Amino acid sequence: MRGRLITIEGLDGAGKTTLCQGLAAALPGARLLREPGGVELSERIRELVKDPSLDVDARAEALLYAAARAQLVASLVRPLLDGGTTVLLDRFVDSSLAYQGAGRGLGVDAVRAINDFGTGGLVPDVTLLMRIDPAAGRARQADRGEEPDRLEREDGAFFDAIARAYDELAAAEPQRFRVLDASAKPDEVLAAALEAVGA
Ligand code: TMP
Repeated sequence: MRGRLITIEGLDGAGKTTLCQGLAAALPGARLLREPGGVELSERIRELVKDPSLDVDARAEALLYAAARAQLVASLVRPLLDGGTTVLLDRFVDSSLAYQGAGRGLGVDAVRAINDFGTGGLVPDVTLLMRIDPAAGRARQADRGEEPDRLEREDGAFFDAIARAYDELAAAEPQRFRVLDASAKPDEVLAAALEAVGA
């Protein structure tokens, strides 16, 4: 039987990484991967897109994320799913629709088209959206005390547009999306996520 593709989405600072680690521990046999990354080419692209010293045009940015995704899907995600493994993916196409489509203003349809090309039309079975108020997400990020990367340096309007886009994507596909309250305690978020994936 084909494995299930479960994606985890949300704004920076929503707590995706903690949820992903909790899910991976609770779902033995599932493989946790992150985007951009997971394979050598995509990890190198990750360094490029995060580098604050680089000037990256919005279209180039969308293509870089799509290229990282295409390689990850071809090298790992599809073979794992075909072999029956459940894949937990920390961000996927919806991140590009929200960040590049809405945040950068490229348009969701244009960004969806390049990603359909890149992934061969792969669609997650379940998408968990960690929903958080953009200001709260930024505050959590600031509390971490890390240097902000290239995208994290954007202003509030950028993240407000991304949050709105995520809500619209979830409303448009209620059968695929499960919306989680990211302001809840981590163990409550994990319990809600496990219920949502039927574990
Ligand atoms: P993260 O691993 O901390 O979530 O960092 C990934 C960053 O890249 C984050 O700021 C969101 C951004 N991103 C996009 O803008 N588009 C994408 O398609 C993906 C996967 C991530």
